[in-house]
Parts: sequence; structure tokens; C-alpha cells
Amino acid sequence: MALPASDLTKQPDNRTTLDLGAVLPRTAEVRDDHLFVGGVDMVELAHEQGTALYVMDEADMRSRMEEYREAFRALYPNSDVIYASKAFLNKEMARIVADEGLCLDVSGGGELACAQAVGFPAERVFVHGNNKTPQELREAISAGVGRIVVDSRIELGRVSQIAGELGVVQPIYMRITPGVEADTHEYIRTGCEDSKFGFTMLDDFAFRCVKDALAAPNVKLVGLHCHIGSQIFALHSFGEAVAVMVELMARIRSEYGHVIEELDLGGGLGIAYTADDKPSSIEAFAACTVDAVKECCARFDVPLPRLLVEPGRSLVASAGLTLYTVGILKTLPNIRKYVAVDGGMSDNIRTALYHAEYEPTIANKAGQPRTEIVTLCGKHCESGDAVVVDMSLQHPELGDVVAVFGTGAYCYSMSSTYNGQPRPAIVFVKDGEARVTTRRETYADLMARDV
Ligand code: LLP
Repeated sequence: MALPASDLTKQPDNRTTLDLGAVLPRTAEVRDDHLFVGGVDMVELAHEQGTALYVMDEADMRSRMEEYREAFRALYPNSDVIYASKAFLNKEMARIVADEGLCLDVSGGGELACAQAVGFPAERVFVHGNNKTPQELREAISAGVGRIVVDSRIELGRVSQIAGELGVVQPIYMRITPGVEADTHEYIRTGCEDSKFGFTMLDDFAFRCVKDALAAPNVKLVGLHCHIGSQIFALHSFGEAVAVMVELMARIRSEYGHVIEELDLGGGLGIAYTADDKPSSIEAFAACTVDAVKECCARFDVPLPRLLVEPGRSLVASAGLTLYTVGILKTLPNIRKYVAVDGGMSDNIRTALYHAEYEPTIANKAGQPRTEIVTLCGKHCESGDAVVVDMSLQHPELGDVVAVFGTGAYCYSMSSTYNGQPRPAIVFVKDGEARVTTRRETYADLMARDV
């Protein structure tokens, strides 16, 4: 698929790096025209480690984890924050999440294995997925995970059977599709009726299945879960979901005599990918969801549950950036200016997949205004392979180090080795120190499984 035609009337924004505001990692600075993150010179780091390179601002991630925890605890003491590890996970990340006292959402066997590899407390692990394999369920239950979020009636039977075989009673949630249409890209909208996820409310199916869950011998239904989508700016959708969920809790209590003790509202808070994006704050998200829970519980006369949220993107996206080196420049007058970098859809599929927008800067010209409109294309064999389409950038030259902001979520975790491209290393930066937390993939790694 080709790129959409450029809007030739678009003017460069003349912003310098620091004008990008909320798009930047929290420790971003400019010294002598160089971009620094975590006190580390991004130009030097690119030269030392090579590019493409994922960089994560550790202080930024930790501060957002604390902000989430504190925002919820201040308004609602019986609450917990679960990090949705699908956004970004390596061992060091799992250690940091454990250290910050958050819980962990895993959605595949490998994510659980990573958590186990660093000794993440199993009781703080929540297991998701619409088609967890019997083997994944067995691994999770044997590991002693805190909660399995059951996605369907078929899975309910499987969980109960496997738990029985292992001689345990597994605490579960049921994932409900609350029928709320969140205002976001249709590919990442998950709460609406036509969804592969969760128990539908249509024909009262979810409510009827609660009875099955209560009757199943080796599970204990402790909570309900919903997740209405991702990259959501309009908070009212969360309030709408809460109303549906709490009403269901009330019916379960009055008709089955069972109190739902926990309510997990999923993730979804959006972030600023462009300087013009205006997402809601973590505090506003906490206030909105807590108000809705308190109001609805009072209205439907149900006891206040333990409240959980499951953010991924809003904890890590803005902390991350990707560094590339400019290798080729190609200007097509009245069509487009291509700046080719040494990565692309293999390290960031989001632009090709969702038409995602990102802000770039030249790390070795970070104090200068962005005076040109360019497309940062990748090195892959696809016309649609681009990381940034028609955005402002300083005047690019061969060998420049380009930083693309906001790539901390769903880039590494969705990366591939297309065209035999080894996956980039991941470097965490903090207090002037850079440490490689995942080394660069090698050609030998690429062939390691071949026989
Ligand atoms: N909980 C559940 C059950 C989820 O499915 C997700 C994301 C989250 C929590 C975290 O949502 P967040 O806070 O990150 O919005 N690949 C897409 C995003 C897919 C999100 C999938 N589920 C992207 O790159 O935009």
C-alpha cells in the first residue's frame, strides 16, 4: 500500500524540540543543540550503540507509575494499578513494575514467562486474552497467578477443569463487553458489541454466564472486567462503561446473591503523539472513573469494590523514543521529500497499520526550528513503510541522528524482523547513565531456530 498523497499546502511549524511539550519524555533537555534524555546525549548514544535504537526514560516511566498509583489511592484507597505489559515488556521493565508496586497484565505465555524470569510476584499477575491456549492456562494456574480474566464460556469450562486437575480454586474475573463505543481508531476499539473479546451483554448472555461461573467447581468469581479501547481522549466513555458494569454487579447481587468484590476498568487513556494532541491527564482519568464508580455504586446500592485500572500506553509511550540515522535523501518536487532511516515498519508498525502520527526532531540539531515538511521512510520493501508522514523537521542531512518521540508503547512489542532486520537494542537512560536492557538482535539470533 502506498502512502496517502502529501498535502503540499502544509507548512513547517518552526517549532524547536522543546516546543513539543507533552510529546517529549519528561527529562528531555537540549544542551548545545543536542537532545538529552535522562541526562544522556542522544547523539553520542546513537554513535555508541548504533541505530535504530529504542531509548526509554526510566524516571519518566517511574513518575507516571507513581502518579497513577497516587491519583487512584488518594481518591479511592482500595485500588490498584495493573501495567498492561503488551505495551512494552522486557525483563528490566518487569523489575521496575514490581519495584513500583504495580500489578502486571500478561496476555500471552511469553509475557508470563518474562514476569516469572524476574521473580515478579505471581499473585500480582492478571492473565488476559480471548483465546488463551490450554497450555497457557495450565502454566498460569500452576504459577499461582492472582487473577485469570475469563473471556468466554468455553474458557470458563477450561479454567475450571484445569484448576481442578491441579487441585486449586482459581480466582477469576469475567470480561464483559459493555457495548460502549469509545472514540478511537476502529482497530483498537474493543468495548463495542461487535467484538471478539469478552462476554456480550446481548440477550443477557453475560448475566446468564455468571450463573455458570458461580456453579463452576474450581473457580471463584471475584470480579468483572471491561476494556473499551485504547488511545481514548474523551473520558465520558469510561463513565458510561462504569454504569453498565455496576448495574450488572447490582443484578448479580440481587438475583444470584453474589457480591462482586473487584472491578477492573481496563486501560485506554490516550497520550499526546503530536504537539497539538490534548489528552486527559492521569489525575482527570482517576477522578472521572472514581466519581463514576462511587456514584453508580450509590445509585445501584452495591458495596464499593476494589477498583483496578490497566494502563499500558499512558505509562510508557511518552517515555520512549527511537533513534535512527539518516541514510538517503530523496526530494520529489511538488510530491514529497523522503528522508530514509535505518529502521521503519519493523521497529514501528503503527504508522503503516493505524496511520499513527509521530513528532520527529534531529537530535544533533535539537535547538533549531523545524523548517521543512518531510516523510521519514524506512528501509523495508514496502511503499507504505514510513515512520513519520509529512511532519516538520529541521533541515535533514546524511548522517543526522533523528529521534522519533512517543514510541515507548506498541513499537518494540509489535516489532518484526522483516527483510532480515535485527531488532534494535533497548537502552534505559537515567541520571546521566545509559544501560542496555535488551541487546541488539544479531544475524545469528535471526537464524537460531532454523534447522
Ligand atoms: N487491558 C486490556 C485488556 C487491553 O486489551 C489493553 C490494550 C490494555 C489493558 C492497555 O490499553 P492501553 O492503556 O495501552 O490503551 N496496538 C495498538 C494498541 C492495542 C491495545 C490493545 N489492548 C496500538 O499500537 O495503538
